[in-house]
Amino acid sequence: MDRLGRGLGGRRRWLSNAAALSGLWVVSGGCYYGAEEGEAYEPWLYPGADLRPDRLVVGAAILASSPHNTQPWWMRATANRVDFFSDASRNLGSLDGLLRELTIGLGCALENGLIAARAFGLAPELALFPSGDDPAHIATVTLGRGTPMRDPLFDAIPHRHTYRGRMMDDPPPEDLEAALAALCEADVRLTFVDRGDKKHVFRSETIAATEAIVADRSMLLDGDAWWRQTAEDIERHRDGVTIDTSGLGAATRALGKMAGRPSPESSGEYWLSATREVHTRASAFVILSTANRADRAAQVAVGRTYQRIHLWATSQGLAVQPLNQLPERQDREQVTGAEPRAQRVLATLIGDDRTGAQMLFRIGFAFDEALKSPRRPYEWVVRP
Ligand SMILES: Cc1cc2nc3c(=O)[nH]c(=O)nc-3n(C[C@H](O)[C@H](O)[C@H](O)COP(=O)(O)O)c2cc1C
Repeated sequence: MDRLGRGLGGRRRWLSNAAALSGLWVVSGGCYYGAEEGEAYEPWLYPGADLRPDRLVVGAAILASSPHNTQPWWMRATANRVDFFSDASRNLGSLDGLLRELTIGLGCALENGLIAARAFGLAPELALFPSGDDPAHIATVTLGRGTPMRDPLFDAIPHRHTYRGRMMDDPPPEDLEAALAALCEADVRLTFVDRGDKKHVFRSETIAATEAIVADRSMLLDGDAWWRQTAEDIERHRDGVTIDTSGLGAATRALGKMAGRPSPESSGEYWLSATREVHTRASAFVILSTANRADRAAQVAVGRTYQRIHLWATSQGLAVQPLNQLPERQDREQVTGAEPRAQRVLATLIGDDRTGAQMLFRIGFAFDEALKSPRRPYEWVVRP
């Protein structure tokens, strides 16, 4: 029996919860569409039938995590070489004023590409920032001939999705911290927050940072620009965040689609309440930090580490959601010259000042399934 089948009282209560949540969609006039339907989701049918080396590497890279699903990359690809470039035009504006998250996203794409290349026996060789004078040229991956390797991380590539629904918040498996630490690139430090005061501070300060973002009109609008409300929006852009990836239940998502686009203010209010009630509950929170936050190579290393961790978690049946409100506020405070509040909080959570926070996430067991987000296909991201 599903959730709706548990008697009329339960059904009424559930529907009224859905209606309360759907208060953000006050304007009607939308149109229902199914989850994960349409060409925007076809890249997830990976690896597919075309096994050319560049298709395999780029096809995996496309499926990586990226901030707000901006997919801030383009590639140059031949049979024996794939070059990764950042596309600064696909940025988050004041949410990522230092293009730090954008570069982390490139690290995620690179890691998926490398894992795929090794799995198919393409013996990848990596050169980071190969054009010293062009910081947008993130990496060259040269492909050769090696031995294919079975890799559970490769198998997880088409199944990894960001999860924004409810997680169990009981203590994590005992060996989780060590398993995650073993997945870190050299120079990436992992802080595991699973108990006591620190867990409370992580929660309350992430909520406070969300409040600050919602109250900062530029940040609110720059995030909202990547919201894709309708099936047409999704097919046209094949990027951004959608109702189906919001972590809401099926009926609420259906209501949201049939209504019109929510205002940035009501989206912000919804996000804040989801942060309070849902997103800040988990078995553990994790902080990835590096010595120099501004260093592009360190940001790529963080992206590679995060992607690997999320793939490993997927292979273990664990759910993951980044929660980057605090480092986004830290960047914003730096850009605007405001008091460095977020930086102080993050230094307290990490336990010292020697490394700066780059990527935060929660990890635990999920109650629901995470759904796919749209992707731009090979033809859209590969340029001559
Ligand atoms: C640098 C970076 C920052 C991110 N920050 C957040 C975040 O704060 N909250 C969140 O829910 N997801 C965050 N994400 C996850 C992306 O929104 C997600 O990867 C993207 O929408 C694509 O969806 P997918 O991971 O399911 O493929 C972040 C991802 C990256 C790489």
